[in-house]
Amino acid sequence: MSTILAIDQGTSGTKAIVVDERGGTIAIAEEELRPAYLSGGGVEQDPQELLDSVLNAGRRAVAASGRSVDAVALANQGETVLAWDPRTGTPLSPAIVWQDRRAETICTGLAEHAPWVARRSGLVLDSYFSAPKMAWLRRNVTTEGVVTTTDTWLLHQLTGEYVTDASTASRSLLMDIDQVSWDPELLDLFGLGAEKLPRIVGCDEVIGTTGAFGREVPVAGLIVDQQAALLAEGCLERGTAKCTYGTGAFLLANTGDTALRSRAGLTSSVAWRTAAQTPYCVDGQVYTAASAVRWIRDLGFIGSASELDTVAAKESDGTLCVPALAGLAAPWWRPDATATFTGMTLSTGKEHMVLAVLQGIAAQVAALCGLVESDLGTPLSRLRADGGLTRSRTLMQAQADLAQVPVDIYPSSHATPLGAAALARLALTPGMDLAEAVGDWNPVTVYEPVWSADRAAHYRSTWAAAAEATARKGELG
Ligand code: G3P
Repeated sequence: MSTILAIDQGTSGTKAIVVDERGGTIAIAEEELRPAYLSGGGVEQDPQELLDSVLNAGRRAVAASGRSVDAVALANQGETVLAWDPRTGTPLSPAIVWQDRRAETICTGLAEHAPWVARRSGLVLDSYFSAPKMAWLRRNVTTEGVVTTTDTWLLHQLTGEYVTDASTASRSLLMDIDQVSWDPELLDLFGLGAEKLPRIVGCDEVIGTTGAFGREVPVAGLIVDQQAALLAEGCLERGTAKCTYGTGAFLLANTGDTALRSRAGLTSSVAWRTAAQTPYCVDGQVYTAASAVRWIRDLGFIGSASELDTVAAKESDGTLCVPALAGLAAPWWRPDATATFTGMTLSTGKEHMVLAVLQGIAAQVAALCGLVESDLGTPLSRLRADGGLTRSRTLMQAQADLAQVPVDIYPSSHATPLGAAALARLALTPGMDLAEAVGDWNPVTVYEPVWSADRAAHYRSTWAAAAEATARKGELG
């Protein structure tokens, strides 16, 4: 068994943990990142800041652990892209973050192809995914160098290799989801046919070595952050689901060995690819969860996220929020939708608006649970949950009430890097199976539904009508 440095390079920050032989977290270091939110829907990060945050967080975590590590694992944001020079590694563009909506017109222009794109890739033709952003970069920023997701660039900086893992590639709109290979027709569709793409590797593959964090050690355990959390939370069987409440909230459910094509407006991806198996998952997205909380903090409604439960009203006064501050994803797919508050009166206070934001996030996740259930053909029996916002009792109770399932809170706030660490452990340990690499866990808290099914259904349908209205508003311009 090995000591692993697992790095979670996320949208709002980079977290590095050192995990010991028994899977325990023995050191943590975090570096905050602040994406730039531009008018017109642009969301950018400085690639050098991403790299510095990886190196600094990783080195600080290793130093704090007092150990040398045996491997480095990396979880990544998934759909964030940049152009860079493959000879020198120099960035040629800012990182265009998954929340960036400027590639929307590219998707609109290709709308007639959406059905076959969905069949081939498992994804919806939407600017959330990598390919439209890559095409946008090529048209608007530079035709030089290569254009890839951030994991490929970071891994090139660390190891000199040119790779991406199968789960990240499956978020691109450029991969045949059944074959797990780049698809020439999809590449041509986005005008990316001449691009030199990275090799798609397994999530448990040793792709090279790095000396960036001390002695030269293997790099293995590469995966998209959401899928990493799905793995860490032990969603290894078809029908098991988790939601991570980070910058956005992402609901993923394991769908087993075949990639289903969602009839409900969700998207299908590779959950992870190991030497032994390639399970798939469906996912639904709430683009703004912690970023909606950050927004109400910046407006002065709360001092910090830790005040959510004390400030939020105990009961709703009828104020509803659709927290579509960066557009709406599944099942509406309206990048141009905007957030709404409805149902307010002169007696509405900030406490009602804070509660409405939390209930709005929970209602949107509950709507996604319903879509997952319809795709799977079975109800979810429980929902596993992780991420910083699981510390809000108000949010988690609203989640259990609105989804009408018990919510099991993952005991560690590091599900994403722990998932990547499990894959690195698998890579380094001959004969180990995935369940053993992940290990067992018990929820630190369980939220049982308190609302009646009728009350939950009433709230969900009122909220759904508000969401439809905001989605239509986007459609009408
Ligand atoms: O799809 C984007 C998502 O994976 C980003 O996750 O943790 O950076 O909000 P996070």
